[in-house]
Amino acid sequence: MPNPPSAADTKLSISGIAKRYGPTAALEPTTLDVRRGEFLTLLGPSGSGKTTLLMMIAGLVEPSAGRILLEGEDITERPAYRRDIGLVFQNYALFPHLTVAENIAFPLEMRHMPRPEMTRAVTEALELVRLPHLGQRYPRELSGGQQQRVAFARAIVFKPALVLMDEPLGALDKKLREELKLELRKLHRELGATIVYVTHDQDEAMLLSDRICLMANARVAQVDAPTDLYNRPRSRFAAEFIGESNIAHGVLEQSDETWRVALDGGPRLACAAPTARPAGPVSVLIRPERIRLAKAGPGFPAEVETVLDLGGIRRFALRTPGGLGFDVVELGSATAGLAVGDQVRCEVAAADVVPLNEGAPS
Ligand SMILES: Nc1ncnc2c1ncn2[C@@H]1O[C@H](COP(=O)(O)OP(=O)(O)OP(=O)(O)O)[C@@H](O)[C@H]1O
Ligand SMILES: [Mg+2]
Repeated sequence: MPNPPSAADTKLSISGIAKRYGPTAALEPTTLDVRRGEFLTLLGPSGSGKTTLLMMIAGLVEPSAGRILLEGEDITERPAYRRDIGLVFQNYALFPHLTVAENIAFPLEMRHMPRPEMTRAVTEALELVRLPHLGQRYPRELSGGQQQRVAFARAIVFKPALVLMDEPLGALDKKLREELKLELRKLHRELGATIVYVTHDQDEAMLLSDRICLMANARVAQVDAPTDLYNRPRSRFAAEFIGESNIAHGVLEQSDETWRVALDGGPRLACAAPTARPAGPVSVLIRPERIRLAKAGPGFPAEVETVLDLGGIRRFALRTPGGLGFDVVELGSATAGLAVGDQVRCEVAAADVVPLNEGAPS
């Protein structure tokens, strides 16, 4: 686990923030710190409370409880336009009657920036989003991707303390999304800006984020760096939301410093130390690409039930003699020639057998 941020590193501090609409909790009380310069992504299924949390940070939705501190100052009661926050939304339209340059200058006009300084800032912002020649066009004369880049420029031109983005690539086609995703990552590095980003696309979150705040049912499920979230999910929900997963059930055992899990219908495997649970019934995660197959050798036995050869990638469904089924994904050539009905040996490192905090289903 990364160390908790110290006060000097903390850009945004959210404590106990909650939102209720009548009987519905759009967000249960939530506490979260965002570090200076961090790209933090709120990731989760539809309706999990991502936009609600972002809108409360922006000052566009009033919290039912809790406080928000930006740069150590309590901004909970401060109106949105005085928060020093840049916004980009999926459909946060540009002003159609203003040129691109005028759109980008708008936040600077609001702040009464002197004209020469403003012209310089707009030119810089246009260069940053790689549209240096389009300042005099109107939004309707731009492609969707270009419009969204102008929206980025408008959100960052006044060097806000914080930039919030809600599914900014959501309305674009796949190819453009890929392109802008990479640009956004570069932009973040160049600017060193602190960004809170919302998406329900796990690939986008994995690629862009320093940390991901995974949300479900109006709550935070886990906050971690992308690789930690992938390798050490704490719950079944986190394990299944990110990447592919085999979830098996069994009994967790400890002897001295060593943890093992006896899988129902399967082998007894050395596993990672659990984060917060005692020995007993457990669900464990094993990622399909972390299981190594061989015709002979160490490891537990299984039979090949199906093989899907997708060129570079081979996917297998296997079953142990005790009846435990699981999937394996292989990128290399080690499994070339394996066929349905073959008996194989399966090896998994202890660190890749991950006990989940949620108990085994009853
Ligand atoms: N103005 C509102 N009145 C009543 N309920 C609301 C309101 N806004 C949001 N909700 C409810 O709060 C919950 C969280 O909504 P929110 O928009 O934050 O979800 P989200 O995670 O952004 O989802 P999506 O990925 O679909 O955008 C949902 O159940 C939603 O129906
Ligand atoms: Mg939303």
